[in-house]
Amino acid sequence: MKLQRTLCIIKPDASEKRAQGEIFQSILDHGFRVVALRQLRLTRAQAEGFYDVHRGRPFFDELCTFMSRGPVIVMALECENAVGRFRELIGATNPEQAGEGTLRKQFGTNVGENAVHGSDSEVTAQAECAYFFAGLELL
Ligand code: CMP
Repeated sequence: MKLQRTLCIIKPDASEKRAQGEIFQSILDHGFRVVALRQLRLTRAQAEGFYDVHRGRPFFDELCTFMSRGPVIVMALECENAVGRFRELIGATNPEQAGEGTLRKQFGTNVGENAVHGSDSEVTAQAECAYFFAGLELL
């Protein structure tokens, strides 16, 4: 096992449901260390930049509209095997298919508005953390 970092975004649908506190507590309860945290409202261009890998997919436009609809909380999280463990905690992309007790099952709305983002690999996690946090902001 190795110490890893991953990027978490609490998405606008979770903010609208005022579920940020419960999601944050669950993240702490599962042993993640918060190494950086900020709340912001993404511009459309910032959302497009973050999800650039999905540009051209049928859901890209809807995804970027949604992600810039309201505030998000962005966190860099650290623990052993953080990428895999955080993906287990959030569950499948589609909340209907996510396991019981996962964050997307509990707080997600649908496949496009699924409450929480987690990086899908260590390489992606490094790029995603760097998208939001300068080196000096990471504990
Ligand atoms: P996320 O893990 O943040 O990364 C990409 C996002 O695209 C994903 O969560 C979903 O919210 C969204 N997404 C993936 N597949 C679909 C889909 N078929 N329809 C709508 N949105 C999708």
